[in-house]
Amino acid sequence: MRRRIIAGNWKMHNNISESQNLVSKLVSGLTNQNLIREVIICPPFTSLCEISNLLKDTKVELGAQNMHFEEKGAFTGEISSDMLKSVGCKYVILGHSERRTIFGETDELISKKIKKALTSDLTPIFCIGESLEQRENGTTNDVIKRQVLEGIKDLTEEEVNKIIIAYEPIWAIGTGKTATPEQAQEVHKFIRSILTETFSETVSEKIPILYGGSVKPNNAEDLLAKEDIDGALVGGACLEAESFISIIKA
Ligand code: 13P
Repeated sequence: MRRRIIAGNWKMHNNISESQNLVSKLVSGLTNQNLIREVIICPPFTSLCEISNLLKDTKVELGAQNMHFEEKGAFTGEISSDMLKSVGCKYVILGHSERRTIFGETDELISKKIKKALTSDLTPIFCIGESLEQRENGTTNDVIKRQVLEGIKDLTEEEVNKIIIAYEPIWAIGTGKTATPEQAQEVHKFIRSILTETFSETVSEKIPILYGGSVKPNNAEDLLAKEDIDGALVGGACLEAESFISIIKA
């Protein structure tokens, strides 16, 4: 059976005291719960160290929202995989559509980051997704295929087995307009077919594919019930402990 995962992407929210507050509520709300899903939170860089301490002895895992592909050097403002590991991160979100569209990250850059994360023993949460225009043009599958293939092009089968994919249609992010469970399932199944074609069915059956884009307590259950939807990457709704916990339990 595939891993089932609920990850929270905090984006650019929460200073240290707000972070401590949210994490304490989250941890106490999850204590003594028999969870069937793994829980990962991805706070901003500035809160990672503090939160890492708060998560010791809990089942909640820590991830970052970005990293650079070089080991170290003159890259002002960047963060390396080694730095993330040293604060206790096990995961890193890469290729988020906000990185692609606002900060101009290309498939080529993202593929280097994915490779670096894996060789550093960090698990990439590799994000892909089409824009509204692309969906309306009928090019969703072409876009998804290109993003997947470019992102994993330098990976060995052993490496690709370790990644997590997140399908996040751009038109559903922060808009309150969720993809229907059927729309999401269709793309997830397509992603699995690309993985089968490129590697094998064993690989495609193993990789967790999360859905992201306006996941809320009231729609999580229907999305998560779909065969190829193995979890969620949650934005807005992970900023409140209560709503994030109800998605985790959905
Ligand atoms: P929202 O849940 O706020 O739509 O954000 C989704 C997202 O971008 C998670 O990475």
